[in-house]
Amino acid sequence: MREKAFVREVGPRDGIQMVKIILPTAQKLAWCRGAAQAGIRDIEVTSFVPPKVIPQFADAEDVARGALTIEGLRPSVLVPNLRGAERAFALDLPLVNYVLSASEEHNLANVRRSTEDSLQDFARIAAVRDQRAGRRVALGAGVATAFGCTISGAVSEARVVEIAVRLAGMGADEIIIADTVGYADPGQVRRLMSNVIAAVSPLPVICHFHDTRGLGLANVTAALEAGVRGFDASLAGLGGCPFAPGATGNIDTEDTVFLLEQLGFDTGADVEQLVALRREVESWLPGERFSGAIARAGLPKTYRTPAKAAA
Ligand code: COA
Ligand code: ZN
Repeated sequence: MREKAFVREVGPRDGIQMVKIILPTAQKLAWCRGAAQAGIRDIEVTSFVPPKVIPQFADAEDVARGALTIEGLRPSVLVPNLRGAERAFALDLPLVNYVLSASEEHNLANVRRSTEDSLQDFARIAAVRDQRAGRRVALGAGVATAFGCTISGAVSEARVVEIAVRLAGMGADEIIIADTVGYADPGQVRRLMSNVIAAVSPLPVICHFHDTRGLGLANVTAALEAGVRGFDASLAGLGGCPFAPGATGNIDTEDTVFLLEQLGFDTGADVEQLVALRREVESWLPGERFSGAIARAGLPKTYRTPAKAAA
């Protein structure tokens, strides 16, 4: 039995926040369906922000509702505030991911309040969640700009750990540590992720890396060494925060699955099917910048997919 590690596809959320085209709802759902068919169980399918802030997500309810009908999928959504969380609760989504920033300056630019105010907002969201009848909604709590900020520069590692501990204490079910602007390096990742994991144990801790400076997959390897077993990624390496100057794409989904499988982890995902889906997604987004090495070079002949390995 190989140890499991998972890749969460965030393309339909992070991946399309900055693209020029507004994708039709049907294509967003085809993306989710294709990823699920390729073995990706976790997908962040949309973002519950005001349409005037990011027009791409004006159809968020329709996408979330559609994603809930896809077999084998555990859809999640991003929310920046209580209002967004209430929209997600109304649809009874199984997982809702909140985001705040460790950098005060980025938090102000992104959600127009202090980090402390965002922490208080999370406490209110958790209280509303706890009072709901029916199925318990899991809350993911994301700490953006955890490795540095393009607006303010260095971010204190002690502050990131402190924020993670407070989110855990307020009722988060998982912590997501995000390198929003691609500043992280493997040494920093190994150190910070070890400290966060130790501080919030036994809560699961997930990493969200951007490959802006080419260290995305090196950072995945470092996070694995620290004990992280879940990673956000986007097909074709799309992605970026519109409120973080200089932000570019997430780590590429197919390459991340390839890396994890090569290191002996079971992701449940099929790289070739993901590459085929990525070609389709690329055709919907003319003029965008795509990245990813496996889509360019192909899998090595020595690659053994789980199915082939078992045969
Ligand atoms: N969904 C829909 N509408 C919302 C909303 C949400 N999540 N949050 C607020 N609104 C509405 C309010 O009801 C209000 O509507 P009204 O003008 O009709 O009364 C209006 O938007 C302004 O609300 P307010 O609370 O003053 O928000 P704001 O203007 O201070 O903006 C955020 C705060 C958090 C909503 C906004 O900064 C945001 O969406 N940021 C997210 C940015 C992002 O997605 N970044 C990338 C991912 S990290
Ligand atoms: Zn991101």
